Amino acid sequence: MHLLLPLCVLWLLPLAWTLEEDSPLDCVPRRSFPYHRDNAHLFHEEGVFNYSTMLLREDLDLLLLGAREAVYALDLKDISKKLASVKWEVTQQQKNECKNKGKDLETECKNYIRILHQTEDNRMYVCGTNAFDPECDYMSYANGKLTLEKKGEDGKGKCPFDPFHRYASIMVENNLYTATSINFLGSEPVLMRSSPISIRTEFKSSWLNEPNFVSMTQMPEGYMSEEGDDDKVYLFFSETAVECDCYNKMVVSRVARVCKGDLGGQRTLQKKWTSFLKARMDCPVLESQLPYIIQDTYRFCDPQQDWRDCLFYAIFTPQSDKSDLSAVCAYRVSDISRVFAEGKYKTPVPVETSFVKWVMYSGDVPVPRPGACIDNAARKANITKTLDLPDRTLQFIKDRPLMDQAIQPIGNKPLLVRRGARFTRIIVNQVQAADGEKYRVMFIGTEEGTMLKAVNYDGEMFIIEEVHLFQTPEPIKILTFSNLTGQIYAGSDYGAAQIPLATCGRSLSCMDCVLARDPYCGWDKDVRKCVFLSNSPRGLIQSVKKGDASLCPEADPVKPMNRSIWPRGNLKLRCPSPSNLSKTSWERDGSPVMASTRLQLLQDGLLILNATDSDTGRYRCLSVELSKAGRYTATVADYQVSVAPAGSGDGSGILPKARMDGPSVAGLQAIVGLLVVSLLGLLAWNFYKGHLPLPWNCTKKKNEEQTQETREQGGLDAYQDAARSAPAEDKPLVSGANNGRSNNHTGREESDGPKVSLPSLQYIDDESEV
Ligand SMILES: *[C@@H]1O[C@H](CO)[C@@H](O)[C@H](O)[C@H]1NC(C)=O
Ligand SMILES: *[C@@H]1O[C@H](CO)[C@@H](O)[C@H](O)[C@H]1NC(C)=O
Ligand SMILES: *[C@@H]1O[C@H](CO)[C@@H](O)[C@H](O)[C@H]1NC(C)=O
Ligand SMILES: *[C@@H]1O[C@H](CO)[C@@H](O)[C@H](O)[C@H]1NC(C)=O
Ligand SMILES: *[C@@H]1O[C@H](CO)[C@@H](O)[C@H](O)[C@H]1NC(C)=O
Ligand SMILES: *[C@@H]1O[C@H](CO)[C@@H](O)[C@H](O)[C@H]1NC(C)=O
Repeated sequence: MHLLLPLCVLWLLPLAWTLEEDSPLDCVPRRSFPYHRDNAHLFHEEGVFNYSTMLLREDLDLLLLGAREAVYALDLKDISKKLASVKWEVTQQQKNECKNKGKDLETECKNYIRILHQTEDNRMYVCGTNAFDPECDYMSYANGKLTLEKKGEDGKGKCPFDPFHRYASIMVENNLYTATSINFLGSEPVLMRSSPISIRTEFKSSWLNEPNFVSMTQMPEGYMSEEGDDDKVYLFFSETAVECDCYNKMVVSRVARVCKGDLGGQRTLQKKWTSFLKARMDCPVLESQLPYIIQDTYRFCDPQQDWRDCLFYAIFTPQSDKSDLSAVCAYRVSDISRVFAEGKYKTPVPVETSFVKWVMYSGDVPVPRPGACIDNAARKANITKTLDLPDRTLQFIKDRPLMDQAIQPIGNKPLLVRRGARFTRIIVNQVQAADGEKYRVMFIGTEEGTMLKAVNYDGEMFIIEEVHLFQTPEPIKILTFSNLTGQIYAGSDYGAAQIPLATCGRSLSCMDCVLARDPYCGWDKDVRKCVFLSNSPRGLIQSVKKGDASLCPEADPVKPMNRSIWPRGNLKLRCPSPSNLSKTSWERDGSPVMASTRLQLLQDGLLILNATDSDTGRYRCLSVELSKAGRYTATVADYQVSVAPAGSGDGSGILPKARMDGPSVAGLQAIVGLLVVSLLGLLAWNFYKGHLPLPWNCTKKKNEEQTQETREQGGLDAYQDAARSAPAEDKPLVSGANNGRSNNHTGREESDGPKVSLPSLQYIDDESEV
């Protein structure tokens, strides 16, 4: 991670040159939360995989979840509660046919649910790959049961054959729009409307050229339109560029759109779209030779604003596997719309016998404009439907569906660029923060099952947090947001997860709450908690743009903890960094601690090795976090360290090296444990036999030790002999004896005897306390 930081900065510098000096860390999530059961409500059914289709039924308080050979109805408020389910498995005969066609029985010859939409009669339309023979059906939910009607509708062109192929679909006014391949081989891609009159794209490489479909959405452009325009359906995909002058294949990102009222042409383009127009979409990530490829989009519309102000947020990843950057770009719908409505077309020009060059078309454009929806101007010319369009217009669009101009993102640069696990899915939610401004928060799923929460504050990229949703790092395959519950739903091959927009309670101090710059969270002075904005009527402390923590009241002082250590012993003082944008430092009795061979500054604490009397003191761990508003220091931990008098022990000889790395600590523990048990017995035996006077009175303990002794008698003799023959200074034995005694001591719990605290065990204790 830290090694990557400089690289990250290099990449971001040109993009973010307007940022303040604190930009270097911007691509690191401020906080990263490892997987924990409490991070999210999870749903997973034993033996069922590929939870990658979702349908929100807020009217029924349900989340419909499509998986492999099953559909689940889950409680929208808590998806770990399964309310109903229905299986949809392929028959043995279908399996055999699929296998005979050369497909894999265990993976491809299964039924992957791919389409789940609500119909106008409140039923649901479901399609599955059905062992490479796609099929659709109606499904209803009533009396707590999910039922498939077994209609057995043909799913060709609606649902992919191949479960690994990407596809897109949308249901608009009971009409199903899909983008997928219509044949078994996957070689005939279509954008299709299945009803009322089935309309699709031409099979021409200038229309769709080895596309990878990403997403689809509708835009109510006909609503109260002065020009009498029609509503549109947008499709996002990537494809091999036909217009590329290059020898190698180059993939580009595209947006295409069709008009809802399109019925196809009369003679030319019969039952084909007359309004299919497409344009290249750019997301310029600097220093990248090849264009980035679109992976997912999210339509963001402010309910109080016109469709023209809607935005498309899109995720892009590089064409080559060599780079691990991902980016988010945002586009104005009005910019896209303008290119289609007014832009120039590209046209193919034959250069050599077999080579075609695509150039800007500068000749006359027929009227009505090719690809335009039927509007008032067309109606005036007696063209009331696409069937009335003249051949000249239709022939033009059939040959030239590609626009000359590419669509550029807002600001001509990405909103977010990050190195690391590739982005897979995005949703965007708007929140009005305490400052009254509205912020758009991006929730981004990654290939490693994490979800990033990021905001672009006036050009500054800021990743608030990263949460690991699943125990296994599976890619997020779907993300949905319910406005009703305010929850985000994510699906992966392994399961589904539900998380709230914010978990403000993770910030325990005002400073952390403010520096998190999460627009959903603010510090409530009265209850002294970081709370969700809408849950608190009071004025909250928040500073999302600047991270100004000076607004915070004085923090509660950290309670000092006592730690004691043997001379020559080792001790670890824990101090986990509160954020990835902060740096921790230590001071002893008010002056900074310098790292040395005996004082090691670790990422999560300070290690004192081979202690001496001079190590006594008050140790404070401070974290310093830089925000735009300033530099904030907080005390994270406070320890009073005392070194036990030199005479009370001759040091601990356990090699400090072994303690430094995690795995060997366990091994060490085991060895120490063994030694302790043996030596306990040995000591007890000695006491029992009267070789040694009892150092303190512990009759209860003695009984226990006796039992132990009898149990371990056999093995003891050998140790006893060894102890007798070994000189007292012998390192391993001395250390062993120390440990034995310490265990005796701690075993007595609240003892008021001499302060004996054993370095090695102390260290282990500290490790386990979190
Ligand atoms: C900082 O980032 C690392 C790596 O992503 C992560 O393991 C760690 O938990 C993060 N620290 C905090 C405080 O979030
Ligand atoms: C379905 O899930 C399994 C198990 O995680 C995975 O190996 C497989 O690639 C997934 N199949 C598809 C089509 O996503
Ligand atoms: C439109 O059609 C009507 C009758 O069908 C005809 O009277 C009128 O002249 C036509 N207008 C044009 C511009 O063709
Ligand atoms: C979401 O719900 C809130 C009320 O809960 C409503 O004010 C808002 O308009 C809704 N937003 C959308 C996009 O439906
Ligand atoms: C730490 O030790 C001091 C005296 O040395 C004592 O007053 C204080 O209560 C102890 N604190 C804790 C938390 O045990
Ligand atoms: C610990 O420090 C003492 C001097 O205080 C030194 O003699 C001894 O070699 C050191 N032990 C280790 C293991 O570094």
